[in-house]
Amino acid sequence: MRKNFVFGEGNPEAAIVVIGEAPGAEEDMQGRPFVGRSGKLLDKILEAIGFSRKDVFICNIIKCRPPENRNPHPDEIESCMPWLGMQLEIIKPKILLLLGRVAANTILDNRQSMGSLRGRIIRWNNYDVIVTYHPAALLRNPNWKRHCWEDVKMLRHHFDKTC
Ligand code: URA
Repeated sequence: MRKNFVFGEGNPEAAIVVIGEAPGAEEDMQGRPFVGRSGKLLDKILEAIGFSRKDVFICNIIKCRPPENRNPHPDEIESCMPWLGMQLEIIKPKILLLLGRVAANTILDNRQSMGSLRGRIIRWNNYDVIVTYHPAALLRNPNWKRHCWEDVKMLRHHFDKTC
């Protein structure tokens, strides 16, 4: 049973919204997104391109921790998506950074692989979307960090050009 609803946090007027999959155990305990091991890595990734957590808004597709950290079920995604839709309507970001395939496939409504989604800017519903690996995947496969670095450098460059 989840302990906390993890709404998201950061700058409510951010130009960039970072979207992950679902809260893990630490996020559930604290009621805050990306505060566990993946979150520490996300902080470093953001710092490497000159941002702090306070510059962006960080949230997830799913607002409550799925039991045993399993992948979210379609009905859970369906109940949570209106929240994300409202968050984006209020914040009105220019750029979405989607972390991992669950976030990317859900938002872009496709089943494409990370290989075909990352490394480019995808125009979706008036947002410029950049997809990269989820930090938890990078902790398991450090070889992918190189690709993530390319993706976030592109994010920084695009931000500097457009925001
Ligand atoms: N993984 C996610 O996708 N989101 C979090 O908030 C933490 C870990």
